Parts: sequence; C-alpha cells; structure tokens
Amino acid sequence: MGICTQSTVIEINSLRKRYGTKEVLKSLDMNVCCGDFVAIMGKSGSGKSTLINIIGLLEEDYEGEYRLFGEDMKKMSDRKLTKHRCKDIGYVFQAYNLINDCTVKENVLLPASYAKNKVSPETLEALFEELEIAELANKRAELLSGGEKQRVGIARAIINNPRLVIADEPTGSLDEENSEKIFRILKRLNANGTTIILVTHNHQLAEKAGRQLVLSDGILKEQRS
Ligand SMILES: Nc1ncnc2c1ncn2[C@@H]1O[C@H](COP(=O)(O)OP(=O)(O)OP(=O)(O)O)[C@@H](O)[C@H]1O
Ligand SMILES: [Mg+2]
Repeated sequence: MGICTQSTVIEINSLRKRYGTKEVLKSLDMNVCCGDFVAIMGKSGSGKSTLINIIGLLEEDYEGEYRLFGEDMKKMSDRKLTKHRCKDIGYVFQAYNLINDCTVKENVLLPASYAKNKVSPETLEALFEELEIAELANKRAELLSGGEKQRVGIARAIINNPRLVIADEPTGSLDEENSEKIFRILKRLNANGTTIILVTHNHQLAEKAGRQLVLSDGILKEQRS
C-alpha cells in the first residue's frame, strides 16, 4: 500500500484477530498517512468494526504489529493508551452511544472533562454552530432524532481536536440529505488536517473519499477509482 510522503499515522503489519476458532482478520496490512481520508467498505461481517475497534484502541487483543503516530501500541503503557483514546482519537459510533439522560452539551463536554481540556464558551458555540446543534444544547439526548444524535456524536468525537477521527457507518441510518451533511463535516475536518477513517456501505460517499479500501477475506485491498 502507498508509501507516505507525509508522516504516517497508522502502520499495521500482519494483523490477525480471532474470535474463538473464527479468524476475522488474517495477516492484514494497512498504512494511513497524515491527512488521508480513507473509506473502508466490505460486506457485513467482514470485520470492519473489528478492525477499527483495534485502530481506535477499543480492542487490545490481537496479533501483529500496530503503530499509531509512530509508536508501537503493544508496548504502550495503559496510561498512555488512555491519553491517546482521550486526546488523539475521536470515535464516532454507529449507534451514537450518547448518554440518554444527559443533555447534548453534557454529552459533548464529557471527553473534554476526561482530558482536563478547558473548552471556552466561544469554542463550544462555534462547534455547535458548525454541526447545527446549537438549538439542541440543553435538550436531553434521548429526545433527539437519529441525524441529530449523529451530529452530537461527531461534536463529542472532535471536542478535543483529535488528530484522527474514526467513524463507524455514521450515515448508516440516515437519509441522503443528512448523510451528505455528515460527510461534508468530515470533509471539512479533513481539509483542516484531520486524518479520517470512515466505514461505510455507501459507495457514492466512499467514492468522494481520498482512498477506498475494501475488507474481504480478512485483508484490505486498495480500490482504484
Ligand atoms: N465479540 C465477538 N465475539 C465473537 N465474534 C465476534 C465478536 N465481534 C464480532 N464477531 C464476529 O466477527 C465477524 C466480524 O464482525 P464485525 O462486527 O467486525 O463485522 P462488520 O464488517 O463490522 O459488519 P457490519 O457491516 O455488519 O457492521 C462477524 O462474523 C462477527 O460475528
Ligand atoms: Mg460493523
């Protein structure tokens, strides 16, 4: 896979992941450069979530080498792994994973409080305006529509200005207009230098990403458009 002229964000070599006797990832290699916008496609059950859970440091049980920002994740202390999860990676969950009883504002600010990141009211306002959730700030998360929840999930993922945003089918349950809206937000982040990994079943969106990778038979293949 392509050699980076910029700095490397992700370097994965011979990654294997098994669930019992089932081998989901089989000697998978992957390189992502700083500023890449990568779409990952593949059939349901092919292992996309498994892969990005490993990349997002949500799953530590795997074989093979995974280097993130040049550092070997197998050798990383728990304290530093937590710091990476908190500050460097923004994860957008397919099922939103918001705290239903909390307001939009409380949900978005949660990772900032974990990271002891003091967010100014101006910064928060700008973020809420960008994601079109300003009017929802004091509403409880459970009262939101799917598209609104997804935009809140993105705000929460980027509140600490992560270098890498990983989104697991963020448009999976959205209509075309809302899918386009989410995609435009990811594009804008990418234009500002954030590296993006987007898992999607939507071929039209994937084609607009910088790179398309397909996960099949436990390995990734670059798709040339
Ligand atoms: N915790 C687990 N224990 C056992 N098997 C699992 C576990 N998580 C995933 N699997 C299996 O691993 C395979 C890959 O699952 P994964 O969720 O990564 O697929 P996916 O490509 O994200 O699918 P989808 O497009 O439906 O989200 C599936 O066969 C799934 O049943
Ligand atoms: Mg999945």
